[in-house]
Amino acid sequence: MAKIRVGVVGCGAIGSELCKAIDSELSSGMELKLLIDKHPENIERLCKNLRNKPDRTKSDSTKLDKIFAEVDLIIECASQAAVREFVIPALKKGKDVMILSVGALLCEEGLFEELESISKEKRCKVYIPSGAVAGIDGLKSGAVGGIHSVELTTRKPPSGFEGNEYVKGKGIDLSSIEKEKTLFIGSAKEAVKHFPENVNVAASLSLAGIGSEATRVKIVADPFAVENVHEIKVRGEFGKLFVRVENVPSIANPKTSYLAALSAIATLKSISYPIRVGT
Ligand SMILES: NC(=O)c1ccc[n+]([C@@H]2O[C@H](COP(=O)([O-])OP(=O)(O)OC[C@H]3O[C@@H](n4cnc5c(N)ncnc54)[C@H](O)[C@@H]3O)[C@@H](O)[C@H]2O)c1
Repeated sequence: MAKIRVGVVGCGAIGSELCKAIDSELSSGMELKLLIDKHPENIERLCKNLRNKPDRTKSDSTKLDKIFAEVDLIIECASQAAVREFVIPALKKGKDVMILSVGALLCEEGLFEELESISKEKRCKVYIPSGAVAGIDGLKSGAVGGIHSVELTTRKPPSGFEGNEYVKGKGIDLSSIEKEKTLFIGSAKEAVKHFPENVNVAASLSLAGIGSEATRVKIVADPFAVENVHEIKVRGEFGKLFVRVENVPSIANPKTSYLAALSAIATLKSISYPIRVGT
């Protein structure tokens, strides 16, 4: 069987892990054909660590039509802006896509609907890995029977909120927090406006479950937290679900959880393997 030809947009923390996996354990079913990053030095750094270099590299979004013709799957792991810049043109060209900056689908009005309509028309797949959370499988299954509520609680050390405008506006002094303090309670839709660093987790849960207005989010500064912790509570016709993830940060980018890169690799594995375990 022919190998799946892959193009990766974004050569940062997640992109590097993904490309290394394509270059090693996934190499029997996939090949890296194209690397895109607006910073050419990031492409160069990544290529140095690859046994099989991609045929093409690019640092802008011009003339995509021609180069997208040479790949089967485009993976976005760059930024929210890159979803419109690269994912939409890839779909229009009839290519399957994977999106890591899933927050874009909550933040840009109409983008999700556009994505859905083009992918239906072109019969393409849009893969959205679970990213830094777990429990998406149970949430999706539960949604079939009916969900009553979805709550996400994110706990981080107070230093993780430094520079956050919403926290500043509330007059909260992060350095004086001695016991856990709730910074925000509201809908996922409101949460992503005030806590953009939380946007991907809130978006994945909203898309898999009951939408961004009904999904509730609580953000807590916890001086005893050493890692970013996400707790998900779901209640529905199926019963109750509770998941807690204590994320280790990625070495290359401490804002990104290592699990996010691993979940993208796991999604790639499921694309290239005929047997799919899990919902
Ligand atoms: N789904 C999830 O749960 C989850 C978890 C963590 C991170 N993310 C998202 O995944 C994305 C990548 O994360 P990362 O930690 O690898 O980031 P990173 O900053 O380590 O790397 C991003 C790379 O993409 C490049 N880039 C950014 N915008 C670009 C554009 N418009 N065109 C071309 N290149 C561009 C940058 O130059 C950089 O090399 C981010 O948007 C992040 O928010 C999602």
